[in-house]
Amino acid sequence: MLSAQSVPVVRATLPLVGASLNTITELFYRRMFEERPELLQHLFNRTNQVTGAQREALAGSVAAFATLLVERPDERPDAILSRIAHKHVSLGITADKYPLVGRHLLGAVAEVLGDAVTPEVGAAWDEVYWLMANALIAIETRLYTESGVNNGDVWRCVEIAERRQESTDAISLVLRRPDSRPTAPFRPGQYVSVRVELPDGAHQIRQYSLSTAPDHKTWRITVKREKAADATVPAGEVSSWLHAHATVGDILNVSLPAGDLVLPEADTPLFLASAGIGITPMLSMLDHLALASSRRPVTVVHADRAPGDHIHRAEQADLVSRLSGADLHLWYENDARPSPGAHVLAGRATLDHLTLTPDTTAYLCGPLPFMRAVRGELLANGLHPAAVHYEVFGPDLWR
Ligand SMILES: Cc1cc2nc3c(=O)[nH]c(=O)nc-3n(C[C@H](O)[C@H](O)[C@H](O)COP(=O)(O)OP(=O)(O)OC[C@H]3O[C@@H](n4cnc5c(N)ncnc54)[C@H](O)[C@@H]3O)c2cc1C
Ligand code: HEM
Repeated sequence: MLSAQSVPVVRATLPLVGASLNTITELFYRRMFEERPELLQHLFNRTNQVTGAQREALAGSVAAFATLLVERPDERPDAILSRIAHKHVSLGITADKYPLVGRHLLGAVAEVLGDAVTPEVGAAWDEVYWLMANALIAIETRLYTESGVNNGDVWRCVEIAERRQESTDAISLVLRRPDSRPTAPFRPGQYVSVRVELPDGAHQIRQYSLSTAPDHKTWRITVKREKAADATVPAGEVSSWLHAHATVGDILNVSLPAGDLVLPEADTPLFLASAGIGITPMLSMLDHLALASSRRPVTVVHADRAPGDHIHRAEQADLVSRLSGADLHLWYENDARPSPGAHVLAGRATLDHLTLTPDTTAYLCGPLPFMRAVRGELLANGLHPAAVHYEVFGPDLWR
């Protein structure tokens, strides 16, 4: 809760701060990495820094949080912070790092806005930062406790037990503990962070969804190689490295599972929609439901360029066939042809031919335009916005 004296100050300066947030977050990262270059080298995703995605995500989250504080002070901010806290936990972020971030972020606010930042304005935004920081620290501490680890102690060595080529652009890696004990439990839909050392000595971290049910004694991730869009940009750093180097018997540095897009236990209808590599968390959910012999009504929609690009196509069809209440709808832009156990359609996914009941819970994962379109159709079909959940395979840009 923001103090009574800060509410009018934050409300009055929110438009000014909000309009400059992208400049502020750009300067914030620049200053912080000047002081602590190892954070850019070994902790932050350096591609997201080049493209600006991470500063946009940070700006969006700060604006959403400050708006909530002044416009709806009775609402708990946990919902907007949960995704960030899970991401932080998958990176082992600890409370002692927050003063550094706060100092550079508030310093950037003062530098960008100049005279507008009076002592009163500075104090009000310092309060906003620490409300946000303390709320994140509280969720992160709870998540570490629930995982039974000391704060930040999330990194583990796992061995690559199997490597499978799923398509020209995707590999699956089955991961097991070197001591052969079962890998840590997780909830269907969660991901792990993977940290690799690149040829220039930098350690870079990326997230990969666990793509089988938690019931197995191993984890599996499926990694799509991110090719460069054109000759002016490099190919994806970590996915290319994994495709080139991940070998059976190698040890990988992987975090404990995290992520708040998870499947709650219930018997109400489910709608699972994915596109491309976004299929991975859905496979974990379907595998879990199949192993539990679930009778939940499940509508599965998947969109891809062509059947040959559809990773885990046979596995997805098999899982759906094992669920008595499930049906599968596939959309291919090219080469749509009949496929056993599925309704196959040509073109981009629409939900025109589907009937969904209002008690359906939806999970979406895929490129933003796909998720936006499906979300719009779901809401038009009568689903409540709170029942539509999504996972973004990158920083959530809050737009
Ligand atoms: C919760 C979550 C779950 C995920 N699950 C999966 C999963 O199951 N499977 C999976 O394959 N991925 C998954 N991802 C995505 C994954 O974490 C990585 O983002 C992905 O592998 C790309 O990482 P990279 O290091 O290869 O590419 P990066 O180096 O991060 O590059 C990303 C893209 O940016 C481009 N690029 C590089 N430099 C520039 C530039 N200067 N300008 C413009 N573009 C540029 C690259 O060519 C590439 O296409 C998930 C992400 C999240 C957040
Ligand atoms: C109040 C303070 C903070 C806020 C509001 C914040 C906000 C965010 C947001 C919005 C994301 C993107 C989440 C997503 O994937 O959608 C993120 C990721 C991240 N945060 Fe924080 N954060 C804070 C503090 C910290 C601290 C103290 C550290 C440690 C130095 C840190 C390190 C990171 C890293 C490494 C990532 C992943 C970056 C990437 O993949 O590009 N954050 N944070």
